[in-house]
Amino acid sequence: MLTIDLDVIRLTLHVLAATIWVGGQIVLAALAGPLRRADPAALAPVARAYAWVAWPAFVVLILTGGWMLADISQAGEAGEALQATLTIKLLLVALSGIGAGLHTLVKTPALKGIWAAVGLGSALVVVLLGVSIVEA
Ligand code: HEM
Repeated sequence: MLTIDLDVIRLTLHVLAATIWVGGQIVLAALAGPLRRADPAALAPVARAYAWVAWPAFVVLILTGGWMLADISQAGEAGEALQATLTIKLLLVALSGIGAGLHTLVKTPALKGIWAAVGLGSALVVVLLGVSIVEA
């Protein structure tokens, strides 16, 4: 049996939060159409309920990610390629948060769609870069 130490628990929390932030957006996007057709008034409360889970997950991502990053920097493990990947990842994390936030704030359906796509698209690339960091 392999060891389950603090590092494993921390990465598990990071991955779990990523499934909520990214997977939740995909599921909500899939449900939005049928939900609106069944009852247009139901979409807003469902989206708000998701936001109550998604934003804490985003905070968990930043806290656990920052903690892992601090360990990597302290150990002097970060080569140039890893540093570049992490920098791009952090920029896309910011874009993912901004996209999701603006999606909530704007009023027109077109702008809502654009910011939802920006938020989810950048989050998907963040997952790809996160896995590439672990694999490095
Ligand atoms: C939208 C936000 C984020 C998502 C979706 C995300 C997703 C991921 C994923 C999927 C992994 C790979 C896990 C695995 O393959 O086991 C990962 C790893 C990692 N993430 Fe994030 N992440 C996010 C935010 C952050 C932030 C804000 C930081 C730093 C401040 C960060 C730092 C890291 C580090 C250092 C690793 C590698 C850990 C290791 O090598 O053990 N992440 N992330």
